[in-house]
Amino acid sequence: MTDFPKSAALMQRGTNFLGCKHAILCGAMSWVSERNLVSAISNAGGFGVIACGAMTPDLLDTEIAETKARTDKPFGVNLITMHPQLFDLIAVCKRHGVTHVVLAGGIPPKGSVEAIKDFGAKVIVFAPTLALAKKLLRSGGDALVIEGMEAGGHIGPVSTSVLAQEFLPELSEDHLVFVAGGIGRGEAIAGYLEMGAVGVQLGTRFACASESIAHPNFKKAFFRAKARDAEASVQVDPRLPVIPVRALKNKGTEEFTAKQIEVAGNLDREEVDMGEAQLQIEHYWAGALRRAVIDGDVENGSLMAGQSVGMVKQEEPVADIIQQLMRESEEALARR
Ligand SMILES: Cc1cc2nc3c(=O)[nH]c(=O)nc-3n(C[C@H](O)[C@H](O)[C@H](O)COP(=O)(O)O)c2cc1C
Repeated sequence: MTDFPKSAALMQRGTNFLGCKHAILCGAMSWVSERNLVSAISNAGGFGVIACGAMTPDLLDTEIAETKARTDKPFGVNLITMHPQLFDLIAVCKRHGVTHVVLAGGIPPKGSVEAIKDFGAKVIVFAPTLALAKKLLRSGGDALVIEGMEAGGHIGPVSTSVLAQEFLPELSEDHLVFVAGGIGRGEAIAGYLEMGAVGVQLGTRFACASESIAHPNFKKAFFRAKARDAEASVQVDPRLPVIPVRALKNKGTEEFTAKQIEVAGNLDREEVDMGEAQLQIEHYWAGALRRAVIDGDVENGSLMAGQSVGMVKQEEPVADIIQQLMRESEEALARR
């Protein structure tokens, strides 16, 4: 029995795949999506995902073990494809019998999808274009997340509403597609479910939950912010393929511009190659996000946030947020 029969019916393929009650993933957020938030999400019937980010294999090992100690429900691990120790991280997931691995940050390198499927885990992929989505789903991806530019963190150029119209009619019959980016209320979830999504992924809405370890200053900045404060970063040098990041505007945003100029200079002097330059940029983000999330430096750190930040008003337990989203979705579907 479920309190939300219409939503549950549309989420059925998603919940079967994830092994949870509601097909609502809390997208991995570096520094935020750790043992406490991830286990809280999964315990509340959603699907938590550990953000591995730049963690070493040893740190990931501990994080998975600590998460398992807090929940017996399924959860996933998000690995960044450009991590230099990607295959060691996959081995850690294998050791722990992780059931779902999310590959983020680019095209999965050769052998990585196979290495994950080899121990029976499901692979969740991201794709910015329909052609790439089809390719990844053909070559082993079990489910796809489409993420629009309303989202917090690293973003593509296209909005969620347009991606949904492009991808869902083509893919939803034969594949499992989750929609992410800009979702703040359940009415939006109902809309994407009706279009063929089997579930959704939210980040911003969960970042300030009571169970989130984010610093009180970080949370306060979210509660004060409006949609328009969550801006995409600008690209300074066209040669440097910097992936834009959506974050609340602050001094750190300006420092990122300076960082890009510094890295472009390193490229000019041939001190680094393009891959290393990109890695330097990613390390910058990981450090800046840590400063804001953990240290509470909301001036110089990075306050990654999506445009739905305007709908985040107060600290609430994860279970309440999930119940509210499901109720709103159900009421919207009942009104149809
Ligand atoms: C603070 C923050 C950090 C994030 N870090 C990551 C990350 O490390 N890896 C990743 O794949 N996505 C990351 N994301 C994206 C989320 O997983 C999720 O897809 C996104 O937040 C969904 O859009 P929304 O913010 O509009 O809800 C991050 C998002 C935020 C807000």
